[in-house]
Amino acid sequence: MIWAQTPERVIGADGGMPWHVPEDLAYFKSITAGCPVVMGRRTWESLPERFRPLPGRVNIVVTRSAEQRGRLAGEGAVPAESLEEALDEAREHVNDASSLIWIMGGGGVYAEAVERDLADLASVTIIDTDAPGDTYAPELHPSQWVMAGSAQGEGSWDTSESGTRYRFETYRRV
Ligand SMILES: NC(=O)c1ccc[n+]([C@@H]2O[C@H](COP(=O)([O-])OP(=O)(O)OC[C@H]3O[C@@H](n4cnc5c(N)ncnc54)[C@H](OP(=O)(O)O)[C@@H]3O)[C@@H](O)[C@H]2O)c1
Repeated sequence: MIWAQTPERVIGADGGMPWHVPEDLAYFKSITAGCPVVMGRRTWESLPERFRPLPGRVNIVVTRSAEQRGRLAGEGAVPAESLEEALDEAREHVNDASSLIWIMGGGGVYAEAVERDLADLASVTIIDTDAPGDTYAPELHPSQWVMAGSAQGEGSWDTSESGTRYRFETYRRV
């Protein structure tokens, strides 16, 4: 899984992200490059039309609606009816150069992935803002997840060109 969150675990507000940290978008791009990505229908819709499907990655989008699946296929996504179907589809596209499948949101999809133990890695960017939101990251329970490292060193931050502090953390399922 990969996401960016505030210290209060906010990941989204009004269908978008309530911060502007281009360094995190670049990090997301480099980490997911070449790998299949799995997302919910609303996350797909949150991507600017000119950036979707995300290039260089098979974009698999889950929706329970047959009508939406038809529309998504027309927009260049690979539609799936469930998370299982999405992950099966993603496995078809994994190769040696892209051995990971990234679940990229949103809130309900991350929650289901954690609840059903479908993920073994979480790349979490902490964005140092108290911006309010309406969508949240799942809790990674310390008995099940350990921090494997932070690019900046534990407790240290980088500062975005936008002025907001951020840090990249990686968690692994125990
Ligand atoms: N900060 C970050 O890293 C990050 C990452 C991703 C998203 N976000 C933010 O999160 C928000 C969007 O997330 P969200 O939680 O509202 O929506 P979402 O998870 O992206 O999409 C929800 C939709 O996905 C479909 N879906 C979810 N689980 C499914 C399942 N098990 N089987 C089939 N379909 C399923 C349903 O579509 P239908 O209703 O069509 O059936 C559901 O309504 C936006 O604000 C976005 O900017 C932030």
